[in-house]
Amino acid sequence: MEKSVSTNVSLKPYNSFGVEANAHYFFEAKTMDDLLWIVHDDHFKLPKLILGGGSNVLLTKDFEGLVLKISFKEKWIEKSNEDHTLVSVMGGEVWHTFVQWTIQNGLGGLENLSLIPGNVGTTPVQNIGAYGVEIKDTFHHLEALNVETGEFEIFRKEECDFGYRHSIFKTKGKGKYIITRVFFQLTNRNHQLNTSYGAINKELETIGKEASIQSISEAVINIRSSKLPNPAVIGNGGSFFKNPVVANSQFLALKEEFPEMVGYPSGSEQTKLAAGWMIEKAGWKNYRKGDAGVYEKQALVLVNHGNATGKEVLDLSIAIRKSVNETFGVILEPEINIL
Ligand code: EPU
Repeated sequence: MEKSVSTNVSLKPYNSFGVEANAHYFFEAKTMDDLLWIVHDDHFKLPKLILGGGSNVLLTKDFEGLVLKISFKEKWIEKSNEDHTLVSVMGGEVWHTFVQWTIQNGLGGLENLSLIPGNVGTTPVQNIGAYGVEIKDTFHHLEALNVETGEFEIFRKEECDFGYRHSIFKTKGKGKYIITRVFFQLTNRNHQLNTSYGAINKELETIGKEASIQSISEAVINIRSSKLPNPAVIGNGGSFFKNPVVANSQFLALKEEFPEMVGYPSGSEQTKLAAGWMIEKAGWKNYRKGDAGVYEKQALVLVNHGNATGKEVLDLSIAIRKSVNETFGVILEPEINIL
């Protein structure tokens, strides 16, 4: 079939907040061939927005350039020895489908990251993490297309500068790469099960199962479903803000004033504060203005109850930042990419 770029396409189906915004030009790369075609098309010279699952972006206006949706999928086992298996997965694969496939193949390492929305290709950008695990723990390397040179490049783990919700693709590499394939090194046996996150053990008890890659995945799915809104039902992008990291001394001072304040050690000198706790304490949980709101069960998640605009969600986030800063003297940084 002839490949062509569409004009004036609504992005509502392509962002998990479900907000309305138009792409002036739109192209969906369903295969690697499609990607290589668009790279040589004139539209590729325009400003570009690369969209994966659209689960970590808030669109506040129309996009005048080219929106490129990455949908090429495939996953396979590269190589295996007795202990480890190296898997390779294309950027357009749905993350949770991939995680379930690894578990069905008896491979350990990604079970705690079950049910995170989005596509594989965007997971390294912010080094997604949940329940004590981040993708950097099993990440091996990735292949990315440099949009400036048209060449493929390999990034080994140490070149990615992974940190808490952070990678080189948020700084030096921002807007420069399309992540086409990611490789993970998973375990075949002696799995490093991580149940340190309290809620997991409790959930395993509730479902009456010993810890295994399968049961941990099941527990995580249960916990996430009970706390986090399903984007197919209520528009959202997961945590809107990062949990701020402050000096231990600031945490101790805050604890004096707010004894129930929640924080976790982050290295030996810093503490990661629970932004959700602060937002709730500042009175925002379940707040709603028009269709923009704060989720009733998790204050770190902003939601679109139906017809909110991206601008309305953004305005709400600004009001929350201001209020948290006034109450606690702490500045919240968005985790979501605001466009
Ligand atoms: N809390 C409240 N009120 C709230 C929300 C949270 O008091 O409305 C308290 C909780 O009781 C708990 C603490 O804050 O003591 C932490 O809450 P939770 O375990 O729900 O995790 P989180 O820190 O809010 C982070 C990630 C999530 C991830 C969970 C589980 C960030 C920004 N968010 O949330 O990731 O699923 O931990 O590991 O680091 C995402 O990035 O989109 C995301 C959902």
